[in-house]
Order: sequence, then C-alpha cells, then structure tokens
Amino acid sequence: MNGLTIRKLSIRDIDDIMAIERVSFPTPWSRHAFVSELSQNPYAEYYGAVQDGRLIGYGGMWLILDEAHVTNIAVLPQYRRRGVGEVLLKVLMEKAGLKGADWITLEVRESNLGAQRLYQKHGFSQKGLRRGYYTSTKEDAIIMSRSLRAGESGEGAGEARRVRGTGRGSGGDPVRQRVVP
Ligand SMILES: CC(C)(COP(=O)(O)OP(=O)(O)OC[C@H]1O[C@@H](n2cnc3c(N)ncnc32)[C@H](O)[C@@H]1OP(=O)(O)O)[C@@H](O)C(=O)NCCC(=O)NCCS
Repeated sequence: MNGLTIRKLSIRDIDDIMAIERVSFPTPWSRHAFVSELSQNPYAEYYGAVQDGRLIGYGGMWLILDEAHVTNIAVLPQYRRRGVGEVLLKVLMEKAGLKGADWITLEVRESNLGAQRLYQKHGFSQKGLRRGYYTSTKEDAIIMSRSLRAGESGEGAGEARRVRGTGRGSGGDPVRQRVVP
C-alpha cells in the first residue's frame, strides 16, 4: 500500500487504537487494558500502520525471554485486504528477532480463517488448541507459532511447547492473564 508508514505506538495513540479495537474484535480489550499495555508493561511493544496521518492498524506483542507472543493485530475494516496486516506481522517478527526472540506465538479463534491464512502465509503452523479459550463464546483458540531463527522456516519448526497462557481470550484483560517469569 502506497504511503504506509510504521511507527512505534505510545499512550498518546490510545484513542486511535481503541477505535480500531472496537470495530475489530467481538470482545475488545478495555481502555484500561491498553493503558496498562502502553505505559506499564515492560514486556509489551505496539506498532502502528499510518496512512495519510491516520492510524489504520496496529499490532502488539509481549517479548519474554526467547519468545514473542502476539497479543493483537487489527486493521480498520475499510483498509483490509491491502497488505497492511501482513506488514504489521512482518514488523513484529522482525523486531522480535532483533531483540533475541527465537519463537513467535499467538492464539487465534478457530472461526477466524482469514487471520489463520495470514499467519500460515508467514510460516506459522498450528501447535495446539485451547478449548473454550474465548470465554464469551466458548470458542476454541488455535495456538500457532513459528521459529524466528535464521535458516529455519516456520513451517514444521518447533513442537507443541511451552506456549504461555496469554493473549486475548478469557475476557480480554491482559493484566490478569500475564505470566511473567
Ligand atoms: C486479520 C487482519 C488483521 C488481516 O489484515 P489485512 O490487512 O486485511 O490482511 P492482509 O491484506 O495483509 O492479508 C494478507 C494475507 O492474509 C490472508 N487474509 C487476510 N484476510 C483474509 C480474509 N478475510 N480471508 C482470507 N484470507 C485473508 C490472505 O492470505 C492475504 O493475502 P492475499 O490478500 O494476497 O490473499 C484483519 O482482517 C483484521 O483486522 N481482522 C479483525 C481483527 C482480527 O481478527 N485480528 C486477528 C486476531 S488473531
């Protein structure tokens, strides 16, 4: 997409993040959760996609030891299917790799086939299932991950491993779910 820029997000972006969050998820994270993520969580990093001065998408992750865990990726509906989600995912993978993560993991709703396809396209594969992870709908979460090590493709790299119980299920407050080593 022409003219798209990526930048790190801060607490100043919270209104724009919330606007995207609310139209993107059945159980959006609360404003309070994002305040915590952007101003208190030392493990969290959020990046935004900006088009003509407007924040049109964002992606976030937690970096804990050798593992990056994607918390959210969302794009405003009118800007979807133009490669923005893909750019955000690549940025997260690149930054995580530069900061020493060997793995990147995430949870995705079983019904969210578009997002699953995005992740598969970038080397993620299914590593497990969390039954009833999304408490509001009792929907299962598919755990996906890939290696970030040079020379290892994501596909097939790694095994069902210590993927932490993080992410956006279970009512959506990341503070309550965070597992800090
Ligand atoms: C998932 C999401 C972030 C994708 O963003 P996007 O900017 O539309 O994605 P992209 O245009 O970069 O798509 C890249 C690839 O992902 C796959 N993909 C993305 N959306 C898809 C869809 N709705 N159906 C099928 N494949 C899809 C395709 O392979 C696509 O490549 P292609 O366009 O060459 O076929 C966006 O749909 C969104 O914000 N959804 C709501 C929030 C959400 O579900 N986030 C994921 C939580 S796990």
